[in-house]
Amino acid sequence: MSLKKIKVHPYLIPKPVAIIGANIEEKANFLTIADLCTTGYKIPRFVISSGKGHYTNKGILENKEFSVTIPSSTLVKEADYVGIKSGKKVDKSKIFDIFYGELKYAPLIKNAPITHSCELVENVDFGDTHYLFIGEIKETYVNEKVMEGRIPDIKKVDAFSYYYDNNYYSVGNVIAQAYKVGKELE
Ligand SMILES: Cc1cc2nc3c(=O)[nH]c(=O)nc-3n(C[C@H](O)[C@H](O)[C@H](O)COP(=O)(O)O)c2cc1C
Repeated sequence: MSLKKIKVHPYLIPKPVAIIGANIEEKANFLTIADLCTTGYKIPRFVISSGKGHYTNKGILENKEFSVTIPSSTLVKEADYVGIKSGKKVDKSKIFDIFYGELKYAPLIKNAPITHSCELVENVDFGDTHYLFIGEIKETYVNEKVMEGRIPDIKKVDAFSYYYDNNYYSVGNVIAQAYKVGKELE
């Protein structure tokens, strides 16, 4: 295979789609984020990259709390909507069926397979376009219907990813066993 050097771009494939929630002036607001990752297990955290112009940032910075929800494909329209409309212009508080857990400023989504509440522990500001919010996960709620033994079942969660061709893709099939298939090269 010959490799072509192209313009630098943070290609990450696949990119999960998550919905971030925060309270602003006592109202829930949500936005879509595809630039996110997790770090740590003992102290589990989400790291999200949010453009500085986003309305949701106001709530995250003021209350130091936010939610991270993994939507299933049945929520694709809503997930797209909160990613194209700003809370500065429209009221997005009624788009999802919401509830609050222990964190009173992190609106959680009831009709999603997985929803987490987070406490903002750090905001990394490189001084350019995006904030990097690091949130410690305080609570995780999983729809009982998607649980399979100890963990959520990937097919039942039915999450989707965003791709640079501006389409959403569903999660595919098992191709090999993790922590095992590599041993074939031993
Ligand atoms: C599929 C998708 C992924 C997105 N990913 C990000 C992202 O990772 N970071 C970001 O800052 N904005 C992202 N956006 C844009 C925001 O979700 C969007 O601008 C949103 O309307 C901001 O809402 P707010 O102003 O109410 O906070 C994404 C939008 C879509 C549709």
